[in-house]
Amino acid sequence: MVEASLYERVGGMPFFEQLVDRFYAAIREDPVVGPMYEADPDDPGLAGPRRRLTLFLVQYWGGPTTYLAERGHPRLRGRHSRYEIGAAARDRWLLHMRAAIDASGAAPAERDELHRYVELAADALRNVEEFAGQ
Ligand code: HEM
Repeated sequence: MVEASLYERVGGMPFFEQLVDRFYAAIREDPVVGPMYEADPDDPGLAGPRRRLTLFLVQYWGGPTTYLAERGHPRLRGRHSRYEIGAAARDRWLLHMRAAIDASGAAPAERDELHRYVELAADALRNVEEFAGQ
């Protein structure tokens, strides 16, 4: 028997859409990371960025591979290289993503899996060093 993917266990696409909506509402207000998410005048609600993150997470967790079809290989480090991501930015990003996961209604096992993944993924995207006291 094949175990259902996390995508299926949490209820599929609507779960990830709501997660990303919550996350985006919070991150845009963040004093450290919010300014990186500059609004395109043609897309003030950031529908494009929200769709990309949603489809990426959906694909990662075993759902449809629409992200790959639309954006190709994720290359997340490359796609984040124009943002300065140090420990502070990573922690602010994680704060909002953790809160969105906690508010998502996912059961504890899935919630823990999501937490573990985003912590590793966010740390892997750090691209500048920060030193204490600077
Ligand atoms: C560590 C702190 C992070 C910061 C400051 C950050 C910031 C950003 C910004 C400003 C964008 C541009 C919005 C857009 O055009 O889509 C973006 C895109 C994106 N981010 Fe992050 N991000 C972080 C971590 C992560 C993590 C951990 C993931 C995955 C788990 C992720 C996945 C994505 C994806 C999939 C896109 C869209 C890529 C594309 O297809 O163009 N990000 N991020």
